[in-house]
Amino acid sequence: MSRVVGSHCMIWMIISVHVILLVLAQDGDQFEMYYFRGGNLHLDGMANTNDGPMHLTNNTVISTGHAMLKTPINFTASSPSSFTFSTEFVFAIFPLQKPPSYGQGMSFVVAPKIDLRANGTETSGLGLFNSENNNKTENHILAVELDTNQSPEAHDESDNHVGIDINSIVSVAYANASYYSKGKIKPLLLASGDRILVWIDYDGVEKLLNVTLAQVPKSTPVSPFLSSSIKPSVPLLSRSINLSEIFNETMFVGFSGSTGSTRSNQYVLAWSFKKGGKAQSLDISKIMDAPDQNSGS
Ligand SMILES: *[C@@H]1O[C@H](CO)[C@@H](O)[C@H](O)[C@H]1NC(C)=O
Ligand SMILES: *[C@@H]1O[C@H](CO)[C@@H](O)[C@H](O)[C@H]1NC(C)=O
Ligand SMILES: *[C@@H]1O[C@H](CO)[C@@H](O)[C@H](O)[C@H]1NC(C)=O
Ligand SMILES: *[C@@H]1O[C@H](CO)[C@@H](O)[C@H](O)[C@H]1NC(C)=O
Ligand SMILES: *[C@@H]1O[C@H](CO)[C@@H](O)[C@H](O)[C@H]1NC(C)=O
Ligand SMILES: *[C@@H]1O[C@H](CO)[C@@H](O)[C@H](O)[C@H]1NC(C)=O
Ligand SMILES: *[C@@H]1O[C@H](CO)[C@@H](O)[C@H](O)[C@H]1NC(C)=O
Ligand SMILES: *[C@@H]1O[C@H](CO)[C@@H](O)[C@H](O)[C@H]1NC(C)=O
Repeated sequence: MSRVVGSHCMIWMIISVHVILLVLAQDGDQFEMYYFRGGNLHLDGMANTNDGPMHLTNNTVISTGHAMLKTPINFTASSPSSFTFSTEFVFAIFPLQKPPSYGQGMSFVVAPKIDLRANGTETSGLGLFNSENNNKTENHILAVELDTNQSPEAHDESDNHVGIDINSIVSVAYANASYYSKGKIKPLLLASGDRILVWIDYDGVEKLLNVTLAQVPKSTPVSPFLSSSIKPSVPLLSRSINLSEIFNETMFVGFSGSTGSTRSNQYVLAWSFKKGGKAQSLDISKIMDAPDQNSGS
């Protein structure tokens, strides 16, 4: 008898925990965006949303562009799991000079300030760092860079790599852009103009940050076509990081890009984010194309 009661208790405990988790999930900071004009974004520099997509950098030399969510995200150190977050986004980069010059690069960034211009220089600074603040723990910055230029000061080994940056333009982990498909590694060209999906997943308990890329199918799929169906099972980068040592309590999330003498049009075409769990899978059928690069806009 006591056994039956015990197992009932157990079941109720499990159900209650699930209900609590669901409520927390709805309560958390989360969003999904397919159109950015008029969105809840702080734009500066070259960044604009006039055509619908987030357009981070344009044909201006030696400049930066930022698009940050206006609403801060709270990462309170109440428990390790409170640092868990995930995000996915689709980007497209069009070089504005003939290859092999692809422009500087862009990044997804989590930073304690919404305005990154003071320290975020152009060229290899990616709008995030400068020679004064580079590699300073006071930065409290995590970035995932999509770097399209080989910069010696950033110790870059190629002009087509993905890196995890902690307080520094010198990445703690990096790899040439590629993705896993059917057990094979396929190369990706970041600045090809193709739409590329990026997943960034951080588990605050495991303290592991994963970055995964994949090519978005070129033909328009039937709706709904969730990004989860094309997510490679193996991440490109998987790095152990204790974000509670990096983040301040109040952080801003968004994107940063830069140009040098080499320029590119950088776009974010869709973006989902969630603090405390898995971001909503993007519906690929809803993702717009980047503006026509021959129309002059
Ligand atoms: C780039 O963006 C800046 C800032 O919005 C704007 O002043 C400039 O005209 C744009 N340049 C080009 C070439 O589109
Ligand atoms: C984040 O923290 C600030 C300051 O403690 C608070 O005012 C705000 O309501 C919090 N935001 C959320 C979404 O919990
Ligand atoms: C980050 O937190 C530290 C320590 O609490 C504080 O000194 C610093 O001002 C914060 N930085 C920002 C940009 O809020
Ligand atoms: C960054 O700073 C740390 C110590 O604060 C040092 O060990 C490391 O070598 C520096 N990295 C670079 C690339 O300068
Ligand atoms: C510039 O970087 C330094 C070092 O990280 C930081 O203390 C300072 O607050 C930053 N300044 C601005 C305006 O963001
Ligand atoms: C990355 O790409 C560069 C340039 O194509 C190449 O020289 C380098 O060997 C590659 N690195 C790895 C680890 O594959
Ligand atoms: C990161 O990737 C590793 C290896 O595939 C996996 O074991 C782990 O669960 C992943 N973590 C997150 C937060 O996605
Ligand atoms: C992570 O960092 C926090 C804050 O500095 C610290 O309390 C905790 O022990 C660290 N966890 C691990 C596993 O290093």
